Amino acid sequence: MQALLQNHESFISGVWDNIEKKAETIANRIKDGMPFTTVNGVYDDWQDNASWWTNTFWTGTLWLLFKETGIESYKQYAQSIEKKMDAVLHDYDELHHDVGFMWLLSSVLNYELTGDKEARSRAMLAASVLSSRFNMAGGFIRAWNGDYAGWAIIDCMMNVPLLYWASVQCKDDRFKYIGMMHADKTMKDFIRADGSVNHIVVFDENNGEILDIPRGQGYESGSSWSRGQSWAVYGFAQSYHWTGKTEYLDAAKRVAHYALTCLSQTGYVPLCDYRQPADSDLLDSSAGAITACGLIEIAKAVPEAEKSLYLQGALSIIKALDASCAIWDNSDEAFLTNGTSAFHLSNPKHRSEVRNGALVYGDYYFIEAICKLKELLKLSA
Ligand code: GLY
Repeated sequence: MQALLQNHESFISGVWDNIEKKAETIANRIKDGMPFTTVNGVYDDWQDNASWWTNTFWTGTLWLLFKETGIESYKQYAQSIEKKMDAVLHDYDELHHDVGFMWLLSSVLNYELTGDKEARSRAMLAASVLSSRFNMAGGFIRAWNGDYAGWAIIDCMMNVPLLYWASVQCKDDRFKYIGMMHADKTMKDFIRADGSVNHIVVFDENNGEILDIPRGQGYESGSSWSRGQSWAVYGFAQSYHWTGKTEYLDAAKRVAHYALTCLSQTGYVPLCDYRQPADSDLLDSSAGAITACGLIEIAKAVPEAEKSLYLQGALSIIKALDASCAIWDNSDEAFLTNGTSAFHLSNPKHRSEVRNGALVYGDYYFIEAICKLKELLKLSA
């Protein structure tokens, strides 16, 4: 793995230099906003919809930048967004399972980097909210509010790390056990025999039996929404990291092998759905960035002889994203284009609908992947 990393050292540091340069310009414009996508090249702001699930990805980006550069303004903007999120944390009916994404990328990162006790308390509160969504009769964490009692989605594998973190914090495995029960149920009922995954599974909330497998954000039921596959790769890799349960690593590898095979057909830039019709041009760069992060985590976890398969996969994706999706000039505030929110438009005029455009989480995971590669390079030097 060391030789593979060193062969790509100048590529990795070149991309990082581009990120650093671009970040300075856009951070001084976005400041403590809550961007989601760009409109005419400028990031929008979702502060009027504070419980929107992507509202702290910019915060996460600011913390990655602060960790690497030490620039104080990044920290100040991130902490200011976190405080604004307090209104959401105390608005119970607005909270959903994505409290994991929202407070992992804000309060947990803040606490880990600065030791801020208030941030720790916010993250523990978010973990408590997430735990309370666990359905004991069904064995799953409920995703959304409203008439969706039995609905669980693959994305939640990225929320459960908040529970693992909370258990370490309070030295009590009760949060971890909820995360593991949800991960076990997901492993059994979402991952198909060929390594592809369902986006949504509707369970009977009284006994956990499968009632329906709707289409979700992919092309159709039974197809393969690429971001869903990426949440599974990275989510199961993280569940293994926090629990040491080998089945989770095996699950991450199985989905990764399937995703890598699909990616090899399209030059390592993901289609929006790996099984979409051949005449569709919808891509999803965010799925690539998330998959790359997951592959790097798998590479860290497996024995030496297996590492290069996953690391090379991650590098192939990041190189492809850099070559055909990255925007390094000032024509757009996003770092990546070619992100797609969902295959079908549910409301074409809604501002959450993005097709081959910018997605703030695509930017975040692309930068996270480069930070992970930089860290590995440092360790292998
Ligand atoms: N969690 C929703 C999405 O990935 O679009």
